[in-house]
Amino acid sequence: NKLFYEAQKEFLGKSGKITALLRELGKAPKEDRPTLGKLINELKVWAENQFALKEKEVNQAELLARYENEKLDITMPSETKEVGSLHPITHIKNEIIGIFEGLGFEVFEGPEIEDDFHNFSALNVPKDHPARDMQDTFFIEKEIGVQKPSDILLRSHTSSVQTRVMLNQEPPIRVLCPGRVYRNEAISARAHCFFHQVEGLYIDKNVSFADLKEVLLYFAKEMFGPETQIRLRPSYFPFTEPSAEMDISCDLCGGKGCSFCKGTGWVEILGCGMVDPNVLESCGINSKVYTGYAFGLGVERITNLKYRVKDLRLFSENDVRFLQQFEGC
Ligand code: PHE
Repeated sequence: NKLFYEAQKEFLGKSGKITALLRELGKAPKEDRPTLGKLINELKVWAENQFALKEKEVNQAELLARYENEKLDITMPSETKEVGSLHPITHIKNEIIGIFEGLGFEVFEGPEIEDDFHNFSALNVPKDHPARDMQDTFFIEKEIGVQKPSDILLRSHTSSVQTRVMLNQEPPIRVLCPGRVYRNEAISARAHCFFHQVEGLYIDKNVSFADLKEVLLYFAKEMFGPETQIRLRPSYFPFTEPSAEMDISCDLCGGKGCSFCKGTGWVEILGCGMVDPNVLESCGINSKVYTGYAFGLGVERITNLKYRVKDLRLFSENDVRFLQQFEGC
């Protein structure tokens, strides 16, 4: 290409060879000038035509080279990219949320670093109450290295989020609080220092234990299948009165009793009860007008029941061989 333009300049440019011939025409004898002029002009036109033709050719060759360069083989197999999948805990958490959302529960999330008031005191667990031992709590030192008793902690349950909702909203309240919680436990196949909960709270006029039972039965059937039965056993939680623990019929043996349900035919899945009037009052809700129920379930527990994961540690180790098994879920 460059050569072409140089050649064109050499003959036809301002100081080109043909231009020079024309300029020197004056030096020729007068009588020869018309013939010579005609000849030089013919040469010039011929050269111009030749260059024009060549230019076309050069351009075309350039275009073809470019096409060749940019040519795509659309039949070539594409690169395969591995697509990730939801963690089984996330998957089950979403499923639980979906069931309760269908009943009108709204999702609320709160901080994992909490204070004593939201996690304990407002929930009828005053300082020095033995019920605090039920949830072995991580406290956060206010000054690094100085182990003073602290009010700041890692939340031990998502009931702390319910405290926040009660303090900020007027009943009726119907919320679901999913999230990660922390307890100071030695890590083993059956316990971990963090796990996930979904807790629910419903406060309105005339909410009764029967409402709680109805909602939990509906949840159990949606989650574990229409044959599932529930059983409520009296229990104790400082924030509810009366309190209960709920079992579902063991779906492995159909309730007959097996090693999974330790021969009882039942497996425990959640804690629940009627919100203690003290809790309502600490959060500014008139307990003479309103009643409510609350429940809390462990997402790992539900996931174990669904997928029979025997070791809790698998959930946080992020071994792809484990996680890949849930790709289709
Ligand atoms: N917060 C309780 C726990 O973490 C669960 C619970 C919630 C029990 C609501 C009763 C009512 O163990």
